[in-house]
Amino acid sequence: MVEPREGLPDRVLIYEVGPRDGLQNEAAIVPVDAKAEFVRRLIGAGLPVVEATSFVHPRWVPQLADAADLMTRLGDAGRDCPVLVPNERGLDRALELGLRHVAIFGSATETFAQRNLNRSLDEQLAMFEPTVRRAREAGLDVRAYVSMCFGDPWEGPVPVAQVVDVGKRLFDLGASQLSLGDTIGVGTAGHVRSLLDAFAAAGMTVGQLAMHFHDTYGQALANALAALECGITTFDASAGGLGGCPYAKSATGNLATEDLVWLLNGLGIEHGVDLAALVDTSVWMAGVLGRPSPSAVVRALGSGAAESPA
Ligand code: HMG
Ligand code: MG
Repeated sequence: MVEPREGLPDRVLIYEVGPRDGLQNEAAIVPVDAKAEFVRRLIGAGLPVVEATSFVHPRWVPQLADAADLMTRLGDAGRDCPVLVPNERGLDRALELGLRHVAIFGSATETFAQRNLNRSLDEQLAMFEPTVRRAREAGLDVRAYVSMCFGDPWEGPVPVAQVVDVGKRLFDLGASQLSLGDTIGVGTAGHVRSLLDAFAAAGMTVGQLAMHFHDTYGQALANALAALECGITTFDASAGGLGGCPYAKSATGNLATEDLVWLLNGLGIEHGVDLAALVDTSVWMAGVLGRPSPSAVVRALGSGAAESPA
């Protein structure tokens, strides 16, 4: 067993987003039975949180139009899986099914707010305010995402102060956690540190923050290490590196959960995930999708190659 390094957390929580962020971006519509099996297998592999789907408009994300069907099939097994809700209509759909965790998703930039939510920056907050208030009144836990924290494909680099301002406004609506999204994967380790320093200076604690990296420029693992060094203990990741955002050109897969697990194992940081079961799941999902996983660790271990460094 590798000893944890001085200055790094000894345990992290991996927040799995493959069934939602991953499958929302697939050209092919995955059958609902396969989605249910995917979620069950991820839970079985020890992932403590599995974000299952989105209650968005089915015309905007047809890949997840079966959200209610999926959550009904999952029954009690899916009750604690978070789902995205952009507005009160989405919240109502989640409440009807007795779900307990929802996530709103705002944008740090004006252009992406328009493209992803059909709202201006201020209008998105007006849409979220009653959604979060009613969710909290009903006893639900609410996560808030803020997208385009590092760069925006239409606006270019996004000022850190702007991200902190929008992120805090989203969090202060009543969220328990704010996930900082590098939607198009342009962030670098130095930028991660600057952003986290700015959130700390604005009074947010590392326990209130999660990091959500996409791997478009191959920086996701380096960025995760930089965030670990800043004390972050919640990381979003997607099994097999599936993912992207259909409304953000150039957004590719998320940080692969297997790659993150390999890094954490090497640093002696606990996470509770069974890497072999996870790799098996991603190999199986690659078969369902008909293409190989982009995760380097899945490619290596999926062919039965090596042992974990732990
Ligand atoms: P809109 O067209 O402005 O909606 O879309 P509206 O409020 O004007 O309503 C129009 C109609 O849609 C109405 O029906 C509503 O009832 C219905 P009508 O009266 O015309 O019959 N409607 C809904 N139906 C089902 N479920 C709903 C819903 N809401 C309204 N929830 C809306 C606004 C927000 C709905 C739309 O823009 C939308 O669904 N956007 C979702 C886009 C999305 O899911 N993007 C991907 C997730 S974000 C992401 O991936 C980034 C992240 O991973 C972090 C990162 O990487 O940075 C989280
Ligand atoms: Mg994402």
